[in-house]
Amino acid sequence: MCGIVGVVGNKNATDILMQGLEKLEYRGYDSAGIYVSEGASKGRLIKSVGRIADLRSKLGIDVAGSTGIGHTRWATHGPASESNAHPHTSETARFVLVHNGVIENYLQIKEEYLSAHTFRGQTDTEIAVHLVGQFVEEGLSVLEAFKKALHIIEGSYAFALVDSENPDTIYVAKNKSPLLIGVGDGYNMVCSDAMAMIRETSEFMEIHDKELVVLTKDSISVSDYDGNALERETYTAELDLSDIGKGTYPYYMLKEIDEQPTVMRKLISAYTDEAGQITVDDAIVKAVQNADRIYILAAGTSYHAGFASKDFLEKLTDTPVELGISSEWGYNMPLLSKNPLFIMISQSGETADSRQVLVKANEMGIPTLTVTNVPGSTLSREATHTMLLHAGPEIAVASTKAYTAQIATLAILAKAVGDANGNSKAAEFDLVRELSLVAQSIEATLSEKDLIKEKVEQLLETTRNAFYIGRGNDYYVAMEASLKLKEISYIQCEGFAAGELKHGTISLIEEGVPVLALISNNEVLASHTRGNIQEVSARGANVLTIVDEAIAREDDDIRVRTVHPFLSSIAMVIPTQLIAYYATLQRGLDVDKPRNLAKSVTVE
Ligand code: AGP
Ligand code: GLU
Repeated sequence: MCGIVGVVGNKNATDILMQGLEKLEYRGYDSAGIYVSEGASKGRLIKSVGRIADLRSKLGIDVAGSTGIGHTRWATHGPASESNAHPHTSETARFVLVHNGVIENYLQIKEEYLSAHTFRGQTDTEIAVHLVGQFVEEGLSVLEAFKKALHIIEGSYAFALVDSENPDTIYVAKNKSPLLIGVGDGYNMVCSDAMAMIRETSEFMEIHDKELVVLTKDSISVSDYDGNALERETYTAELDLSDIGKGTYPYYMLKEIDEQPTVMRKLISAYTDEAGQITVDDAIVKAVQNADRIYILAAGTSYHAGFASKDFLEKLTDTPVELGISSEWGYNMPLLSKNPLFIMISQSGETADSRQVLVKANEMGIPTLTVTNVPGSTLSREATHTMLLHAGPEIAVASTKAYTAQIATLAILAKAVGDANGNSKAAEFDLVRELSLVAQSIEATLSEKDLIKEKVEQLLETTRNAFYIGRGNDYYVAMEASLKLKEISYIQCEGFAAGELKHGTISLIEEGVPVLALISNNEVLASHTRGNIQEVSARGANVLTIVDEAIAREDDDIRVRTVHPFLSSIAMVIPTQLIAYYATLQRGLDVDKPRNLAKSVTVE
């Protein structure tokens, strides 16, 4: 969600900021802006509603400087407008600031400290920069003023602040919102994620919550809010620049859908030993063995991946699995078992709702495992253990390869624990072979793109709503498939347990309503779902079937190559990803950047 980029000491500051903002676009935003300093009290502030391309078109070629800050905004307080876009300035415009997050006590601060101030917009952010300005007016140094403001401000934030009179320094602080330092050669940067700086550097430094960093072109000083200096090592990020390009693809989503067979194979090699056996860190296996119940906490697609993994986790580890929505559990923790293990699933590793659960779990002394795609992300750093997805950066807002990688990674965990426990189902489950078969099944579905596109164009062209139905794991895939379709095509779509439809929702079925039925390889469930298809067809529904080829009938629409039942969700979800993609293309919408959404949801 939204993003920050800042640079100090590089004469190409404008270029670095603009390229950085472009790299942050995938996170979702509604407006953007930059401030570039051309020397003491000579700064340029340019903002724009809409895309970075709109901001670029407002930039004159003469905007050059060596210090600057940039921002993409995802509005929380006040509409997307130029006056609400960041950077914001203090009352006298001496201080310039960008902010990601939400300042919870902004109204109190306004009343208590800033009643005489005039504000240009409606954001919570503006009070932060006015507060710093006010404290400097009262006689504090810039650093002391920033520290004092940080002691007062409550909520989530990543801040980058520039004093236009002394633009050789950027002041940075964070709490809950992501932010890290990029170490350049003779210059330094700050940014919401490494991807936006990888063109410039591969050396980074973490910032922890409630830390302040003073950044100049050749120094990085980290301290707490009381001014106590903190030591911090830098680290090298293994990001490949080519991973973050679209290549010849029209959209990241299609590229990422196509990468899934490779991701399956990468996971096999990441989690096998020299003898070709599945291997997972001993400490993680023990953490599962010690648990009397596994709690999976996640949001959106990652939550759905948790459901898709529940069955094999329970059968292979002999441990019950409970699912929770992060935004609910963060503040409403149910009664837990005696020895719980929390598994946090998060592609980005930055989702604020999931982080809140992790903070609670840590306070309660509960062991935690984060399953994430981003090494060094907040959820990875703060959990007891981490398992990586090895999926490569996922840029499209609609998550595809992360979902399938999450299920595969949890299958690897389940198999490792099952083997360690001597579970007979685990012994029979040759996961290395099964994951290669999954990769082949995905490839077979990907080779049917034209057929899927044609079916979609007939079925979903004008509809306002649709249903996915399925039973067992297919029900969980139906939940994910419907989220994918609605988030990018804006077709209202519900994922339903096929048998539950008749208990109320079937009243919505009328002539022409599309119902997409998922039927994987389980004879009993398949025959029941077929019955439910009859019920909706009798009421006028337009049915499309996605069926495991082993049990497919002649008139089924899309066939999926059979995989092990534990992994059926991975194979079955692929056609639904393509369905969402083609339905969105047909409607002329931007597949990668759906309205109102952010890739990394860093507010609660
Ligand atoms: C999926 O297509 C969505 N963009 C969204 O539901 C996402 O899965 C959710 O916000 C959780 O994100 P995370 O995996 O990064 O925690
Ligand atoms: N709350 C701030 C605003 O609405 C920051 C939003 C963001 O993180 O982009 O402007």
